[in-house]
Amino acid sequence: MRIVLVGTGYVGLVSGTCFADFGHHVTCVDNDQAKISSLQRGEIPIFEPDLERLVQSNVSAGRLVFTTELVGPVGEADAVFIAVGTPSRRGDGHADLSYVYSASREIAQALKGFTVVITKSTVPVGTCDEVERLIKQVNPSADVVVASNPEFLREGAAIRDFKHPDRIVVGTDDERARHVLGEIYRPLYLNQAPIMYTGRRTAELIKYAANAFLVTKITFINEMADLAEKVGANVQEIARGIGMDNRIGSKFLHAGPGFGGSCLPKDARALIKTAQDFDAPLRILEAVNAVNDNRKRAMARKVAAPFGGNLRGKIIAVLGLTFKPNTDDMREAPSIPLITALSDMGATVRAFDPVGMELARLEMPNIEYCAGPYECAVGADALVIVTEWEQFRALDLDRLKREMACPIVVDLRNVYNPEELTSRGFLYRSIGRPSMPVA
Ligand SMILES: NC(=O)c1ccc[n+]([C@@H]2O[C@H](COP(=O)([O-])OP(=O)(O)OC[C@H]3O[C@@H](n4cnc5c(N)ncnc54)[C@H](O)[C@@H]3O)[C@@H](O)[C@H]2O)c1
Repeated sequence: MRIVLVGTGYVGLVSGTCFADFGHHVTCVDNDQAKISSLQRGEIPIFEPDLERLVQSNVSAGRLVFTTELVGPVGEADAVFIAVGTPSRRGDGHADLSYVYSASREIAQALKGFTVVITKSTVPVGTCDEVERLIKQVNPSADVVVASNPEFLREGAAIRDFKHPDRIVVGTDDERARHVLGEIYRPLYLNQAPIMYTGRRTAELIKYAANAFLVTKITFINEMADLAEKVGANVQEIARGIGMDNRIGSKFLHAGPGFGGSCLPKDARALIKTAQDFDAPLRILEAVNAVNDNRKRAMARKVAAPFGGNLRGKIIAVLGLTFKPNTDDMREAPSIPLITALSDMGATVRAFDPVGMELARLEMPNIEYCAGPYECAVGADALVIVTEWEQFRALDLDRLKREMACPIVVDLRNVYNPEELTSRGFLYRSIGRPSMPVA
């Protein structure tokens, strides 16, 4: 199959590379010249484990090319995937579909012969209808079918997720489109990945429903953690105790500083807006969103609590800035509102992240960035673990204590064992676990 990906970001680059690895001929298009130039030089513009190797081997095999030029490759393609961004629209929280629509118009002009155009971007229900209308408007004679194929990969484990998906959702009633998408995903189908064919609108809604369910689960356990803290219970044991029930499942039950990242918050907001527009409001999701928003600054109050709520003149070391480990993605990372709140409260913030500091600097130019976790801890009054990177799981605690002005650790990911930290003389606070007096 000849495939074009329009949009070469986290989803487009990973999807395109994996399709090429399946044996298809793939062109990844992006209108960001700098991104395409770096890919053409063999440099990967994002941090994603194993991606560089996979890109290199498929480029060498002649199956994967990068370009800013959409017209030629789209004309020759069997399938064109739209994988551009759909961020929150400023002001109202609806999904901003301007990138999807402008890509659709460009694709429309370039189509030749039968082509399936597929939205892989996360788009509100009804968007495929509008993409089809736009394409027909620009190019009335185009032999085109528009299908939905939402993507469920997770940053940090994107290649594994793409190659071993729990399911592949294909939204189209058109037999020719089903055949093309079936061929594209055949290598996965051979590996037993279930492929589920639905109507277009259903596929669009499945993606949002999945993310809405996940944020509900996270927020549920976060609120349970707050209650556990108040009553002297342990949220990790509660999560285990309920997670072993197959009806509930153990995933997404890790209490923390609130959900963030490039997808969950914007998708929750967009679904709330869609539901309101259709007069079928999603009250549970609205509450989840509000609870999560409040939680971000509440985490700063948690850091301030050992100082009687007053952080003026204090130095706070923050470990981990990206919204989760194994990515450089800073979009809506919980570290950003947390650091803003700490600064608002008068603290001086110093931070370290293994790969996220370059992008973090753009968001937060006014904090100090350090070379490593121990450098970050020098002279700090408290250290806050915000992202659970592997390298923060086994810190040299004695060294940390020597470097810090005051041995206070606020662990927003429950990485450490309260007994161990306390026995080493730290005042240790975590999420939803009983606090222990300093030894
Ligand atoms: N990041 C994830 O983990 C993830 C997972 C599942 C679904 N999604 C969804 O996939 C979509 C893409 O997300 P992302 O994280 O890859 O975004 P991204 O911002 O990393 O990448 C989007 C790319 O599209 C390019 N682009 C925009 N308009 C273009 C045009 N007209 N022609 C060519 N290129 C164009 C941009 O330059 C950018 O490189 C979103 O809808 C997102 O919700 C993302």
